[in-house]
Amino acid sequence: MRECHGIPGEFTLEGRKGWCLVSSEKHTDVQKRPQAGFSRRGFIRGVGLGGGAVGATIFQSTAEAAPPAPAALGPGEVAITLSINGKEHKLNVEPRLTLLDALRERLNYTGAKKVCDRGTCGACTVLLDGKAVYACSILAIDAQGRNIQTVEGLSQGSELHPVMRAFVNNDAQQCGYCTPGFVVAVKAFLDENPKPTYEQVKDGLGGNLCRCGTYVGIRKAVLEAAQARR
Ligand code: FES
Ligand code: FES
Repeated sequence: MRECHGIPGEFTLEGRKGWCLVSSEKHTDVQKRPQAGFSRRGFIRGVGLGGGAVGATIFQSTAEAAPPAPAALGPGEVAITLSINGKEHKLNVEPRLTLLDALRERLNYTGAKKVCDRGTCGACTVLLDGKAVYACSILAIDAQGRNIQTVEGLSQGSELHPVMRAFVNNDAQQCGYCTPGFVVAVKAFLDENPKPTYEQVKDGLGGNLCRCGTYVGIRKAVLEAAQARR
């Protein structure tokens, strides 16, 4: 196969015609050959620049379309308002403060207990808009605008909540450390399951642990409270 020195095509050598198929960019003539107005390298460079420009345009329009990023909070304290048991509390907290620590350490609501502090035992259970949640696993700033209910807010003055009364009647506590969390969890459970079976009670309270093992008494208390609420 013959080299074409950059120009594949027909050639004449010593009176004979032939075709060359392989170009050689090493040839000086080819290297010196005037470049067309639109070279391959120039094209690639142009596409690269064009691509960059297109990319930049897309990026810009995407950035323009995106909603504005929320303002960063912290690490210093920020002013928040918490609605707890129907009462508004204004306080300054670091954004990293959990709802449990805000309740216990800053606002003196000590009913919710800190045991595992990592969303496992249920001792810190409170109600957020009526749903049982682990207060140790929620930031205080995220609880703003929500209706927070702690065990302190369940009884009416000296009148015990039916769930509390049932716990007393069924001797459903030993050390009592898990009890406030259980009482709150039971209230949320009965609000959703007013007529539970024993098995449903067992499953429904699976998010709360009692290290003293008073589960039988607790389950009986739940069934009694369910009766009392009808
Ligand atoms: S202290 Fe919150 S789940 Fe254990
Ligand atoms: S009564 Fe002691 S942990 Fe439940």
